Amino acid sequence: MQKLAIQGGNRLNGEVRISGAKNAALPIMCAALLTADELRLDNMPDLHDVATMRKLLEQMGVKAVLQGNQMTLHGAHVDKLEAPYDMVKTMRAAVLVLGPLVARFGEARVSLPGGCAIGSRPVDLHIKGLQAMGAEISIEHGYIHARAKRLKGARIFFDIVSVTGTENLMMAATLADGVTLLENAAREPEVVDLAHCLRAMGAKISGDGTDTITITGADKLHGASHRIMPDRIESGTFLVAAAASGGSITLTDTRADILDTVLEKLTEAGAQIRVEGDRIHLQMNGRPKSVNLRTAPYPAFPTDMQAQFMALNTIAEGSAMMVETIFENRFMHVQEMRRLGAQIDIEGNTALVRGVTHLEGATVMATDLRASASLVIAGLVAQGETVIDRIYHLDRGYEHIEAKLSQLGANIRRIK
Ligand code: UD1
Repeated sequence: MQKLAIQGGNRLNGEVRISGAKNAALPIMCAALLTADELRLDNMPDLHDVATMRKLLEQMGVKAVLQGNQMTLHGAHVDKLEAPYDMVKTMRAAVLVLGPLVARFGEARVSLPGGCAIGSRPVDLHIKGLQAMGAEISIEHGYIHARAKRLKGARIFFDIVSVTGTENLMMAATLADGVTLLENAAREPEVVDLAHCLRAMGAKISGDGTDTITITGADKLHGASHRIMPDRIESGTFLVAAAASGGSITLTDTRADILDTVLEKLTEAGAQIRVEGDRIHLQMNGRPKSVNLRTAPYPAFPTDMQAQFMALNTIAEGSAMMVETIFENRFMHVQEMRRLGAQIDIEGNTALVRGVTHLEGATVMATDLRASASLVIAGLVAQGETVIDRIYHLDRGYEHIEAKLSQLGANIRRIK
């Protein structure tokens, strides 16, 4: 199993290009199932999850060609309407094939995701939404089996804001008969990016980016070209890493308008931030100040940035309260950070982090994607060597992370 070895203490300095967003790329790849024509996607990140999704779509009969950062997907000959357990268990986003398959082919069999490291994460809202659109759904041998002659437009209210739930039902509604209203929908920028792509394919969608999305179904969609938006979580991760290390970095090919709460918290921690078009520059002088935060659906503070900010708080001046409201069990990095000397107490969904003057390198284990990123940040600031085990989690969602960090001056290497 591969590991990362980091010699802490170097400040991050220089420029780094931000990749296309994983959480936009995955649903948008599934949109290829909605048409028999070709979907051309630019700015695709080179990630393990993208490769898994490509494999899944290919198993279904989609033709996929990757040239550099451009992927073309052609769904003219889809003949297997199934997402097997092996795929869904490694990548929950595989459930995003459900809506498009039922909408275009009238049937789908998708494995239930089961438990995952950061909580139970059910898919009941995806299922209820499709039922409201007239699909007959049964759960057989751990699989969701959905059938519908043609989905019908419906008014669907989400009791909990769900990102992939919104995306699945938005895709399904593009080919339904009539109008679908998604209420209390997710407002995440990745939902908006998917809506842009679907509109380019001929879908009629309005209200994306607000909590009510209206979709008027069409008989069919056509091919299109779409450029995947920049990854806001990768952007935030590099900014926090630079702030924790006391460095000065510039992100290129990114967007500041979708990072408001993250940039605000970094400013509160003492960073100086300047935005110029698609570039964000951050400079940090001195020790960071602790920042309190509470995760919630967009536009509030993202749960996918909680662990990285915790790494920053471990070495900051003062104490911070960090509240996780989206996922239960998303504090698994805490035990590992304690091994580096961090002082963190947990009470329910709240972590109290008391900043220490320094961390000390140790061997730690990555438990999920964003927890892994937080351990990399902790390793960058710890004294001596930190070895991070199980880094396959990182490769799921960060493109060439050690190459990018090395380019910024970090002493980091992969041990095979
Ligand atoms: C997406 C992101 C993930 C991010 C999360 C929250 C992708 C591929 N993944 O995950 O990186 O951390 O949003 O911003 O975009 N829930 C239910 N029933 C459902 C669906 C969700 O109870 O049917 C609950 C979940 O358990 C969780 C909350 O709703 O507590 C939000 O989850 P959701 O937004 O669905 O997360 P994902 O879309 O899986």
